[in-house]
Amino acid sequence: MNHIRSLASSELYLCTCLLMLIIGRGCSQVLYDWTVSYSQRAPLGVDKQVIAINDIFPGPVLYASTNDVVNVNIHNNLTEPFLMTWNGIQMRKNSWQDGVQETNCPILPGQNWTYSFQLKDQIGSFFYFPSLLLHKAAGGYGAIHVNNVPDVPIPFPQPYKDYAVLIGDWYNVDYRDLRASLENEVFLPPPDGILINGLGPNQARFEFEPGETYRLRISNVGLKTSLNFRIQEHLMLLVETEGSYLVQQYYGSLDIHVGQSYSVLVTAKNQFDGKSYYMVASSRFTILEQSGIAIIHYPDSAGDPVGPLPLGPYLSDYNFSVEQARSMRWNLTSSAARPNPQGSYHYGNISITRTLILENNLMFTGTKRRFTINGVSFMHPDTPLKLLEYFQLNDVFEYYDIIHDRPTATLPSSYTFVIDALYRDFFHIVFQNPLLEVQTWHIDGYNFFVVGMGWGLWDESKKAGYNMVDAVSRSTIQVYPLSWTAIVMELDNLGMWNLRSQYAENWYLGQELYLRVKSALGDDQSAISTGDEAPIPANVIKCGRAANL
Ligand SMILES: *[C@@H]1O[C@H](CO)[C@@H](O)[C@H](O)[C@H]1NC(C)=O
Ligand SMILES: *[C@@H]1O[C@H](CO)[C@@H](O)[C@H](O)[C@H]1NC(C)=O
Ligand SMILES: *[C@@H]1O[C@H](CO)[C@@H](O)[C@H](O)[C@H]1NC(C)=O
Ligand SMILES: *[C@@H]1O[C@H](CO)[C@@H](O)[C@H](O)[C@H]1NC(C)=O
Ligand SMILES: *[C@@H]1O[C@H](CO)[C@@H](O)[C@H](O)[C@H]1NC(C)=O
Repeated sequence: MNHIRSLASSELYLCTCLLMLIIGRGCSQVLYDWTVSYSQRAPLGVDKQVIAINDIFPGPVLYASTNDVVNVNIHNNLTEPFLMTWNGIQMRKNSWQDGVQETNCPILPGQNWTYSFQLKDQIGSFFYFPSLLLHKAAGGYGAIHVNNVPDVPIPFPQPYKDYAVLIGDWYNVDYRDLRASLENEVFLPPPDGILINGLGPNQARFEFEPGETYRLRISNVGLKTSLNFRIQEHLMLLVETEGSYLVQQYYGSLDIHVGQSYSVLVTAKNQFDGKSYYMVASSRFTILEQSGIAIIHYPDSAGDPVGPLPLGPYLSDYNFSVEQARSMRWNLTSSAARPNPQGSYHYGNISITRTLILENNLMFTGTKRRFTINGVSFMHPDTPLKLLEYFQLNDVFEYYDIIHDRPTATLPSSYTFVIDALYRDFFHIVFQNPLLEVQTWHIDGYNFFVVGMGWGLWDESKKAGYNMVDAVSRSTIQVYPLSWTAIVMELDNLGMWNLRSQYAENWYLGQELYLRVKSALGDDQSAISTGDEAPIPANVIKCGRAANL
């Protein structure tokens, strides 16, 4: 039965792929073979065991084009179980490949597993990172660049060169020690510094040719620190974020929150005065400012830049950040993955089927501290939800829809919960932040429209101020202190998708949930047999109660 089912689906897949090729939409195979291993580095002058990929830290850039089938064979040479997740990648109806704890069993030490997924109609700048056991605190991340297929124009002249710029906070202490602190209910201390492409201050170098235009694809790959990114004496033309082409505007500096990605165009000066320039990623909303520093070199640069770093916004200036977020708009006329304009999808005309108000908070039980969503801290069951569901194991359906759609006054608790949704539902989610720190949220498998942001508590009257025409479509969004952020999203990707805090610490301690998007046809079996959702992979790793099924 299983065999017939997967045969039918792979035929369907082949047909889709052939059709794509005929209409020129791409659909080639991209192959990567990665060995994940420990390696010694000292980015801030203190020796640390980092996680490298093929001995590179950060890992190699994963290049693909719209609709490509991506295959990544990952060999786990660590001494711990491992999973990689693909931040912002909308794998087509295939959460089997998402690489988070409730969709996949881990790749055990000494074993390998091949991820294989087809990209949806998407372009843009993203990154991958390890999702288990706080491995991200040791690296293991890298950039993903999804390019347009050749017949779909990009809304700016072809840049001379693309540079991946991964910025993020860094701890000198071993990730296992950080993990042990979390297990012992001690929150993470402030980081030791900020890295740019895995390197400490003044170590990373970017070569600029006079007059040429570069596309920098910048991602904040850190654990918990919002960063301000800027380049001395060079403006940045912001063109894209997480798969959306934006109305192009110049910025002197850009706030990039944890887990977010942006592309900017930077035109090199026509200079011959021997100067070089600082590239800075400095912490935001922290007590002390920490800065990651890289150097931009021109062919005639005589040594490194001298003098003070270029100034960013005042550390605690939230308004700067809010105004900047509000200034970003979707370019309605540019094509995205397909030749038709981004604005041809009128999200503002679709009726909302469900509103969820999700409030982040903390929970204290005795001495235990965990992070919550509407008073619930996520507990992992003994077997990934995706497998519990596939094998119809008794308790999975008990997890469905037991979270409240609104924050409640009941005492916080810990359990497993899943939001149950139907294909093509149209959700309105308000992230409400009652705390004094910025939060960032991410949803796997989807982009959503960021329709509003404001101070204070959200209420229905706020809808009147929503941007229902040209809001940015993306997958990671910040929520300022004592504020709310509203998104709308069409649930057009079947599967079991992770909605999480992008802060490693919050995520590790329960601030996440799963969004189960199922076919309107009814139970999962009928969804699978109609070929809607990708079948269970032939190489699926089984664990927990599914180990022997
Ligand atoms: C990692 O690779 C080394 C060298 O190939 C090998 O000796 C070791 O057993 C591997 N460790 C694991 C956990 O796979
Ligand atoms: C493990 O890697 C080998 C090649 O190195 C490959 O043939 C095999 O399919 C991989 N196994 C899985 C489960 O992906
Ligand atoms: C929007 O996209 C169009 C089409 O590619 C492009 O010509 C135009 O410059 C863009 N507009 C802005 C303001 O970025
Ligand atoms: C920030 O914006 C709020 C609301 O518009 C305003 O009340 C406050 O004075 C502003 N703060 C600063 C420092 O400009
Ligand atoms: C709704 O759709 C109509 C065309 O069918 C369009 O003119 C209008 O601008 C749309 N409204 C929004 C908010 O997208």
